[in-house]
Formats: sequence, structure tokens, C-alpha cells
Amino acid sequence: MNTPVNKASHHFVYSDLRQWIAAADALGEVKRLTGFTWEREIGMASALIQRSDPSPCLIFDEIPGVKPGFRVLNNFFGAQRANVTLGFEPGLSRLDLSDAFLSVYKDPDRKPIKHVIVEDGPIFENVLMGDDVDLTIFPSPQWHEADGGRYIGTGSYAVTRDPDDGWLNQGTYRVMLHDKRTVGMYISPGKHGRIHRDKYAARGEKMPVAIVLGGNPMQFLLTGNEVPYGITEYDVLGGLYQRPVECVRGRITGLPFPKDCEIVIEGWVDPAELRDEGPLGEWTGYYPGGARPEPVMHVEAIYHRNDPIMVGCVHELGPSEYARYRAITRSALLKEALKSSGIPDVTAVWAHEVGGARMFVGVSIKQRYAGHSTQVGHVASQCQVGAYAGKYVVVVDEDIDVSNLEELLWAMCTRSDPATSIEFIRSAWSTPLDPRIPPEKRERGDFTNSRAIIDACRPFHWRDQFPKVNMPSKAVQLETRERFSWILESWRRGDGRTR
Ligand SMILES: Cc1cc2nc3c(=O)[nH]c(=O)nc-3n(C[C@H](O)[C@H](O)[C@H](O)COP(=O)(O)O)c2cc1C
Repeated sequence: MNTPVNKASHHFVYSDLRQWIAAADALGEVKRLTGFTWEREIGMASALIQRSDPSPCLIFDEIPGVKPGFRVLNNFFGAQRANVTLGFEPGLSRLDLSDAFLSVYKDPDRKPIKHVIVEDGPIFENVLMGDDVDLTIFPSPQWHEADGGRYIGTGSYAVTRDPDDGWLNQGTYRVMLHDKRTVGMYISPGKHGRIHRDKYAARGEKMPVAIVLGGNPMQFLLTGNEVPYGITEYDVLGGLYQRPVECVRGRITGLPFPKDCEIVIEGWVDPAELRDEGPLGEWTGYYPGGARPEPVMHVEAIYHRNDPIMVGCVHELGPSEYARYRAITRSALLKEALKSSGIPDVTAVWAHEVGGARMFVGVSIKQRYAGHSTQVGHVASQCQVGAYAGKYVVVVDEDIDVSNLEELLWAMCTRSDPATSIEFIRSAWSTPLDPRIPPEKRERGDFTNSRAIIDACRPFHWRDQFPKVNMPSKAVQLETRERFSWILESWRRGDGRTR
């Protein structure tokens, strides 16, 4: 069982990326590397480290062919800096951090605070316009061997405005470098930036866009999460910080961006001008499709701080950086969704990293009535937070730590019966990114999939007769750790201690 965190202790020790780096440095979690090429070596090093949570944040400098000081930062989320990134003290477990995040995200005292516009900021230290616009000054990496090109935007977000009501949105959508002055951005149907783009297209207009290529990590986390329609992510961050985000306005479109972010590119997306974009290795661990024609963005201005830092956040299979931080936030939001649907006694939720924090979800409950576990499984599988691109939901009793994959699978192996404990849902909301959608279904544009709900709770009607677990109780485990952990330490040291 996880321990509650005092939300009053929540505060951010940084307000921009440079202060965040200083905080991560203080934890000893930053590794600086020089001489790595954007063509191959940055991607190779990133793939090596980012599937393991304790690995460091990497900062690449002196990249061949690029001005020294123009850096790439990768793997910002992990180890103890994950806590600091979300505004908490180091030392929390993943489950505790997820709960702590939920407690501040849903705190009525931390409602969104509208951003403010200021005149100037470090982002205007360098302004390139007209013929000076050249996106190749930045070290955009080719992340994976089979990617369709260099990606300038992965740890980035696009700022767009609804042409009807002026609502400002910030969303993370990948950005491929085409040439010195153009990029391509892939935005899935239904995403807020796509809704904006479709509205401009219906009017026969180009969409104004500013893309932030590096900045406050918490802001980036929010732009990659499903913040509700109509809400501005800057203002959500303002609520969490309890002070407004200070923005400056782009000189081409008037769109606002944080005054202290690292790099911004500004211009227009022409919905009618298409160019091949992709592929880029996806969060499922596959290339689900080839290159696709996507609208081109013409860049008319670049703003950057001196010695700018571009943030990279790329997908790899399994527990990659993306999956690790999505697990913290999605598990929190799913737990909240189950509770607010009125279901009692949901004790913990974990959207496992190995399934991209979507495809393999564990939920633990304190069973109260027959059918409780079935209800939880179906709602977890189909509520708004859990429905998209899901596959398996496993429901277990509250003695199981759902964030521990081995423990969850053990419960599944021992408390479920394959023929009677698994239920299926068909024609569920999925995505072209799902590698298991058959070619014929793909061809007819049917991107639905099926779901399995695995009831791995002790069967309700005979739960009291279920065999006792062959393990010390939690209390005895704790006592054992306190009294006897010296056995292993003494063995490692070889000090001969016997009692
Ligand atoms: C690292 C990362 C990369 C992403 N890439 C894309 C992408 O290329 N296209 C896309 O539509 N969504 C992508 N997403 C998911 C969206 O960012 C996410 O759904 C977010 O809620 C979109 O913002 P919106 O809800 O304001 O549209 C990505 C998310 C992350 C964290």
C-alpha cells in the first residue's frame, strides 16, 4: 500500500530548463557528452540508456557540423529527478509519485491561472527572420536507423489558436525537418491542434503556428497529456506553479510562448501543401506505417536563447522514457476516472510501461460485492482515459502491488482461470499505430481492436476458502528488512558477521 503525500510540500525548484538542469545536476543525474553525431550517435546513445529508469539525463554538446553550445538534451524523465520534475522531493516510489501528481493536478486550489504577456525575455536573445532563417543550424537527430529523416521536434510542442473562439492550445506533435525553412508535423485526427488545422482548412486559410523545441519539462509533460478541450496548457502550468506563465508574442503570428524557453520556430502550416512525413519509430515499439503526405509548415522566424538546448523525447519499445512518464500520469488519471465513476475501493492503478502505458493495465480493489471486479475491469478498459489503444486490463485484490509487473503476473497466473476469468470486448477504439490490426482491416480504414479483461481476484463467492499466500505478511516483511538486511550487506562486505 502506498503512503499519502502531503500536497502542501509540492513546489517546483525550477522555472525554466536551465534551472531544471541545475536541480538534476545536484542529484548527480546529468551526463554531458561531446562529439556525438546527429546522424547516428545521439540516437544510438539515447536508445542505450532510455529503457532503464535509473539512467541519467544526457546532454550532447560539440556536435560535429553544429556550432558548439547548440545542445540536445535527452531522457529528462527518470530516477530521482522524476520527482523533482513534478514538484516533489526525491525518494517517492512510482505509485506514490503518481498519487502525489493526482493530488495536485486535481487540487481545487491549483485551478488554471491565465498566462500573461510580457515584452521581452531570453528567448529573444537571437532572432532570425527572412533570409536568415535556417533550421539546419540546430542538431536535429536522426533518432532511429529506419526513421524517414531528422526530427527537429520530439520533446517539443506546437502552439495553435482556434480561429473561431481564440482558444490557445499547446500539444506535442512530432516535427520532421524537411529543409532550411520547412518542416512537417504529424497530428492525429481528434487532437486539438488537428481540430484547429481542420478549421483553418475549411476557411481556406493557413494555420499560424509557433513550435517550442525545448523549455520547462513540466510544461512539456502537460502538452503531451490529454488536457481537456478548451483549456490552455500554459494556464494549467500556471495553476500548478500558483503564478502565471510569462509569455512573449511571436513577431510573425502574435502567438505567445514562454519568455524563457530555449528555441521557437514560427510560421504557417498550409493544409493544402503536402509532403511525405515519417516514419518515426513509435511508442508501440514498431514502425506501424511508412511515410505519409502531411501538411508543410513554412518557417518565417526562429528565436533562440544563447547556446540553445533542444529537447528530444523519442519512442522506443518497452519501458522507454515516454512510457515511464506516461505511466505516472495515466495511472493517476485512470484511478481518478474509476473513482469519479462512483466505483468504491479502487486501491491502486498502474498503466504498465512495457505496454506504452496504455496496453497493459493493472487495477487493484478491495472486493466489496459480487461483480465488483467485472465492473472495474470494464470501466477501466472503456472510460475516456483508458479506452484509446488499450489491450489488457488485469483486476487483482488489494494485497497485490499492481506497479510490480512480476507480482501482477503472479496474481494472474494463480488467481485466474483462463477459460472462465477472461472477458472480451470487440470493436474498441484503437489506432493505426496498433501493429496487430490486420492488413485487410487497415485497408478498409477499420482501426478498432479487441480488449481482454482478466479477473485475477480471488473468486468472490469462495474468497475465504482460497489458499493462504505462502509469503510473510507485509508487517513481517518490514520487520525482516529492518532486522536482517545486514545479512546481505555483511555478505557483500565479507566481514564475517554472524549475528
Ligand atoms: C513524446 C510524444 C510524442 C507524441 N507524438 C505525437 C504525434 O506525433 N502526433 C500526435 O498526434 N500526437 C502525439 N503525441 C500525443 C499527444 O501529444 C497527446 O495526445 C496530447 O494530448 C495532444 O495534445 P492535445 O490533446 O492538446 O491535442 C505525442 C506525445 C508525446 C509525449
